[in-house]
Amino acid sequence: MLEIEHVSHVYETPQRRVEALRDVSLGIREGEFMSFVGPSGCGKTTLLRILDGLAEPSDGRIVFNGRELTGVSRDIGFVFQDINLLPWRNVRENVEIGLEARGTPAADRRRIALEALRMVGLEDVANVPPYTLSGGMQQRVGVARALALHPKVLLMDEPFGHLDNFTRETLQIEISKLWSKLGTTVVFVTHDVDEAIFLSDRIALFQGKPGRVTDVLDVGLPHPRWEFNVRGDTRAIEMRESIIQHLGVRDEVLV
Ligand SMILES: Nc1ncnc2c1ncn2[C@@H]1O[C@H](COP(=O)(O)OP(=O)(O)OP(=O)(O)O)[C@@H](O)[C@H]1O
Ligand SMILES: [Mg+2]
Repeated sequence: MLEIEHVSHVYETPQRRVEALRDVSLGIREGEFMSFVGPSGCGKTTLLRILDGLAEPSDGRIVFNGRELTGVSRDIGFVFQDINLLPWRNVRENVEIGLEARGTPAADRRRIALEALRMVGLEDVANVPPYTLSGGMQQRVGVARALALHPKVLLMDEPFGHLDNFTRETLQIEISKLWSKLGTTVVFVTHDVDEAIFLSDRIALFQGKPGRVTDVLDVGLPHPRWEFNVRGDTRAIEMRESIIQHLGVRDEVLV
């Protein structure tokens, strides 16, 4: 559905030249949950921005449903790590932002935003200012804002990165349930190997300098994952160990 074909990306600044991605090729299947895992600075966000049409690759191309992607697509949604909700708008009005940009009429915007808030369990706080919500709730608003646009592909860049463990685990289950229900294709960036194993059908492993994809793993655990102890599952434990070995995380720890 989404083909990444020989994508390279170089950032040139007066101070330095960074090869953020070198010759990355990867196909994302319709309806799958794909995670990108790898150390900081290996080009995960860069690739997500290219998939979203926010950045153009220095080389290579993205093909979406048989067509080369040029610029932002209506069918691709993005959830950022920093949600940046507008404090002068209530929760529902924040969810409506993308719909406004599309010119959706006010009554429809309201209905669609409330429906998206219901999906993430926040319909009760639709009218409150966003800064009165907890971090986990704000993150859900970010998910609702993306879902309101009914994307075929949802790109998520470390959406739970700032959250405490308890909230993070709750949201992992919620996202997994939403994904099962909606059938949306998801590309999910995370530093957290356990999170990637819990959520994903496949995991692309990234390494840095230059950023590249060095392996793609099939997780192979049955769904729904929230119904059993994934973390304690022998297959998950072995996969975690092999990912950590592959990424050379232990060799890179300096302190
Ligand atoms: N706008 C920019 N200008 C110059 N260099 C950049 C820019 N954005 C990213 N880089 C560099 O490109 C490389 C890849 O960055 P990127 O943000 O894609 O990594 P990442 O894998 O998302 O890292 P993290 O896990 O820390 O979020 C890094 O070396 C970074 O310093
Ligand atoms: Mg990043």
